[in-house]
Amino acid sequence: MKKYILSFLVLGCFFCFLFFQSCKETPFAHGKILYENFCESCHMADGSGLEGVIPPLANADYLEKYRLDIACIIRKGQSGEIVVNGQKYNQEMAGIPQLTDFEITNVINYINTAWGNDYGYTKITEVQEALKDCPLFE
Ligand code: HEC
Repeated sequence: MKKYILSFLVLGCFFCFLFFQSCKETPFAHGKILYENFCESCHMADGSGLEGVIPPLANADYLEKYRLDIACIIRKGQSGEIVVNGQKYNQEMAGIPQLTDFEITNVINYINTAWGNDYGYTKITEVQEALKDCPLFE
């Protein structure tokens, strides 16, 4: 019996370890999948965008400067001139209304930590607060 318990514990710890390891490698795995499905076609897998047409997300000062506007950009889209890393962009991004508040939070936390980005953690309550008051993009 003792043996059983011991091997159970050892195995349990092993799986626990594997689980935490995989979490460490992709801290926002759900956000990454959403990114691949909803953003990557434009902003690229490495977040570099498309020179002069689609602004980058990797290393983008915009994400840090307008941290709390990102939720609205994802839900409602964005148009008009913006400046990212000193370069002007003036295109249109359509909103992605099918993403829930929770999914938007996960995508934001993914892009804020992917590709060497380090723009901090955004809470779902902050996202919900921001989404209450989105500017209207015409
Ligand atoms: C159809 C192409 C397209 C898709 C899909 C798309 N974007 Fe965009 N995105 C753009 C364009 C174009 C702009 C610039 C809009 C402008 O010039 O005002 C932009 C702007 C942004 C910005 C602000 C500028 C910057 O680079 O920091 C963020 C943040 C952003 N997008 C995040 C996302 C996220 C997250 C997703 C997926 C949930 C996504 N986008 C999906 C094309 C797209």
